[in-house]
Amino acid sequence: MVLNLPATGGSVVAATDGVVARIIAEVYEQCRSDTSGTLADYIPELAAVQPDSFGICLATSDGQVYGSGDLDTAFTIQSISKPFTYALALADRGPAEVATRIDVEPSGEPFNEISLDPETQRPRNPMINAGAIAAAALIDGRDAADRFERIRRSYSRFAGRELRMNEDVYASEARTGYRNRAIGYLLRGVGVIDIDPDEAVDRYFRQCSIDVTCRDLAMMAATLANNGVNPMTRERALSAPLVEQVLSIMTTSGMYDAAGDWVTTVGLPAKSGVGGGILAVLPGQIGIAVYSPRLDAHGSSVRGVKVCRELSSRLGLHFLHVTRAAHTAIRTAYTVAEAPSRLRRDADELAILRQYGDHARIFELHGDLLFAGAESTVRAVEQTSGELEALVLDLREVGDVSPIAVRMLDDLQRELAATGAKVALVDPDSKLGHMVSSLDPADPRGRVFIDRDAATEWCEQLVLDRHRAPGHREHSAFTVEQHPALAEMPDDDRRTLAKEFETRTLARGELIVPRGSPRAGLFLILDGRVRFTFDDRAGRRHRLVSLSAGMSFGEIAMLADATFSNDVYAETTVRLAVLPPDKFDLLTSQAPEIKLALLERLAAAAYAQADAAVRALTAHGGA
Ligand code: DON
Repeated sequence: MVLNLPATGGSVVAATDGVVARIIAEVYEQCRSDTSGTLADYIPELAAVQPDSFGICLATSDGQVYGSGDLDTAFTIQSISKPFTYALALADRGPAEVATRIDVEPSGEPFNEISLDPETQRPRNPMINAGAIAAAALIDGRDAADRFERIRRSYSRFAGRELRMNEDVYASEARTGYRNRAIGYLLRGVGVIDIDPDEAVDRYFRQCSIDVTCRDLAMMAATLANNGVNPMTRERALSAPLVEQVLSIMTTSGMYDAAGDWVTTVGLPAKSGVGGGILAVLPGQIGIAVYSPRLDAHGSSVRGVKVCRELSSRLGLHFLHVTRAAHTAIRTAYTVAEAPSRLRRDADELAILRQYGDHARIFELHGDLLFAGAESTVRAVEQTSGELEALVLDLREVGDVSPIAVRMLDDLQRELAATGAKVALVDPDSKLGHMVSSLDPADPRGRVFIDRDAATEWCEQLVLDRHRAPGHREHSAFTVEQHPALAEMPDDDRRTLAKEFETRTLARGELIVPRGSPRAGLFLILDGRVRFTFDDRAGRRHRLVSLSAGMSFGEIAMLADATFSNDVYAETTVRLAVLPPDKFDLLTSQAPEIKLALLERLAAAAYAQADAAVRALTAHGGA
């Protein structure tokens, strides 16, 4: 069953297909026949549940819920409450104060052991009862009722709905919980708790008696997996650093004296309760909950343990499984000679970029950028053979960037700046914290761009500025006769043909030819640049290619009798010479040699452009 929970809660859309739902259903069937174990009966009311109840629920950290079986049967949370009260104590008092009362060492003891660490005289961890009662004593509030209410509200934020206490189970435990009272008095005796031990133990009984369903526990787990934000309500239930602390303790102590076996066979931070629930978390990915009330000797659900082992192995969830993901931050790397920008350059510039293009390199990064990914990126840049004058770091496909990765890339930028090399960050979402809008063109470290093409063009320009012959004239403008399409024709032919052109000047940003236009003439660029654009699915306009003085366009529409498939704009102030379609056609009958000479030149230029486009494609792996 797939349950699509709407963001605001409410009705649930259920579906029964899909590979994840099928795997869960298989695991459910596989474990259903196991009826070993016994109901907890030391709290009389716990023995009153339906022993065959069985539910498996998985919630992703973006709120997708899958499940099989009894997803909406209520049962008491019991010890699964412990990490959540510990979390609230950490939030109320701060980790330093909590650490003076509760240790974080695995105890290897049963959950209800009446013991303190002999050295520190503190409970060994907050997952055993002693630590949990100490945590309950640390919750802030006006009075006892308010302190419990804050606990209830906190659990509700994790679950994404209002949870309630089960009065009968509470009364049953309150009547019989002498062992926990003994622990409470011990804690008061050694000064771990300052308040009335009966109040602390009563609060602990109450929190254990909060009713949840398998679906609630999956959502609570998914909230931890989602770094403390409930994926359904989007409400933050816990700050990220405290999530890390809570998951750490769940890993080392959540399964009590079975913690080692659990970590080796399941490999997920988890918590079990004698109510029959188990909750497990794969940080960043999913939360899992199982409900089946027959327990093993450790007080954990028999089927629950089995299901978690099976899901972990079938879905590959072990959190210590070694992947290469963190190391493969560099998706691909190439030089501007291999994949130039979409600005078509003239022959002189192309020659310089062919010779020095490997001085400007582009690194496309992807995945989460953590320490290992940043280290391998910095190392790859530093080990670049030859001189480096400009570097494009394209971060658009990067997910999370850790603070250490930000620092390492900042340092890299500074180091490169000291050698005179600049970095163009392609980082429209400011993942490195440099705002595109606040960029200072004079910053020696470089600039921030919203797309790779603009960053690449900027780097090409840096290389060109360094390697152009002294005295080079940056800006070359042509007359019609000087334009390469005509320049080398015999004088008479050239003069005759030039007369047929009309010249036009357009302001920057002006539309020259709208997409869909029929044959509009042969356009020679005499001065400035034109830009062919296309719109992406989100309606953002991108550059397909820019052409500069000495280049031409419009001939394909003329020769193939096709319409323009892109808008053509003036990228700068631009001066054009236009041969209207009727005159272009007339040349065939009136001056066939001139037309042939013109077409030869246009064909050569078109092939040069096609070559540049193919090079750019192959550098990106043909994608
Ligand atoms: O302290 C107790 O006895 C119960 N209220 C909770 C114990 C528990 O769930 C142990 N976990 N497996």
